[in-house]
Amino acid sequence: MKPAEGKLGVMCVGLGAVTTTFMTGVLMARKGLAKPVGSMTQYDKMRVGRGADKKYLHYGDIISLAKLTDIEFAAWDVYPANAYESAVNAEVLKAKDILPVEDELRAIKPMPAAFDKHYAARLDGDNVKQCATRWDMVEQLREDIRRFKAEKNLNRVVVIWAASTEIYVPVDMNVHDTMAHLEAAMKANDTEHIAPSMCYAYAALAEGAPFIMGAPNTTVDIPAMWEMAEKTKMPIAGKDFKTGQTLVKSGFAPIIGTRCLGLAGWFSTNILGNRDGLVLDEPANFRTKEVSKLSTLESILVPEEQPDLYTDYYHKVRINYYPPRNDNKEGWDNIDIFGWMGYPMQIKINFLCRDSILAAPLLLDLVLLSDAAARDGRYGIQRFLSFFLKSPMHDYTHDEVPVNHLFQQYVMLKNAIREMGGYEADEEID
Ligand SMILES: NC(=O)c1ccc[n+]([C@@H]2O[C@H](COP(=O)([O-])OP(=O)(O)OC[C@H]3O[C@@H](n4cnc5c(N)ncnc54)[C@H](O)[C@@H]3O)[C@@H](O)[C@H]2O)c1
Repeated sequence: MKPAEGKLGVMCVGLGAVTTTFMTGVLMARKGLAKPVGSMTQYDKMRVGRGADKKYLHYGDIISLAKLTDIEFAAWDVYPANAYESAVNAEVLKAKDILPVEDELRAIKPMPAAFDKHYAARLDGDNVKQCATRWDMVEQLREDIRRFKAEKNLNRVVVIWAASTEIYVPVDMNVHDTMAHLEAAMKANDTEHIAPSMCYAYAALAEGAPFIMGAPNTTVDIPAMWEMAEKTKMPIAGKDFKTGQTLVKSGFAPIIGTRCLGLAGWFSTNILGNRDGLVLDEPANFRTKEVSKLSTLESILVPEEQPDLYTDYYHKVRINYYPPRNDNKEGWDNIDIFGWMGYPMQIKINFLCRDSILAAPLLLDLVLLSDAAARDGRYGIQRFLSFFLKSPMHDYTHDEVPVNHLFQQYVMLKNAIREMGGYEADEEID
């Protein structure tokens, strides 16, 4: 694995609540003014070696990871507010946690976005690129990446999407199947099949940067982008940060599954009032999220494997826009289970969470680990990052089943780190 030398550019698509919480936390942490709680790369220790040779180390002691002080930030957004203004508007963090890094945040001014209102009708900003075609959009984004790299004298760049969820773009195998078709559609300005997010992903990969999809958008989850990632030898990861309710689901469902209890239904609903919630209030945008959130249970509690326990369970996911709560989402899960001789029972989970506080450490871990993977020569879909994602990418053209079980995902994460660090992968219990 190549060592993490020089500076790492982190280019964020979207400079909203999640991105500014992430950036502020990193800037505060590197001044020693806040702790990056929730970040696996900063806190977790894992075992390497066995028997007498076993030891427990931080990830950064096993593989070469970029340091927080090596990071330079940039962003694109539809609105012109700089990172300081946007962090204040988002009302996630208190002034005392933003003011010590005000100058650094003010210096992060969003570049004009590659945007199409058709993909997020509720947004109305004017900090937008003028593009003749989707191909032109790609070219302009590539230029942004090159300019940032040169201006800041960066060694490497990672691009991460933390912008609003786009409307659902179904995979169309006449367009999304190969790079040749994708490029032709971009040049023909096929705006129906080419979402702006695809232009960001294409531009990142073309410039030799890993791309991470933090929303549930189709974007890199298409064979054409897998081909592009292979050609450019770049890692891709997605989709959708696994933060609140789905984290609970992927950690809790295994309790039901491993004890062979039955499931009759799982109803998840939540209220949130941030801009993400506003965009998701639009049915076409919610559809994208719904597809992502629904996929979690089906691969953990599999009807075909246990027909007595999991056939026809009712799974429903709702998101309700409710402005007074802003970023402080409240989620309710009602789980109808059954036990011995079919007798019903209920479990209720009420999670009063903070959306961006849960998401910020995931951005840091995904960025640092994607950069490490690239230096290790890993490319294409990074399955070991599924741990951080609601709807892990997988090769659905060959019926690959995604791993949603949180603890299996943790094993995959640790084994990839073991391998990158020159240790043997294993599944021993610590
Ligand atoms: N916070 C969580 O728990 C969580 C979990 C999973 C996924 N996500 C996803 O992360 C994303 C960001 O969430 P947020 O709360 O920061 O939302 P937000 O609305 O505060 O910020 C998103 C920003 O993206 C900008 N944007 C939209 N389209 C763009 C484009 N094409 N190019 C550049 N900028 C664009 C918007 O103007 C907005 O400022 C959303 O898609 C959300 O679904 C969040």
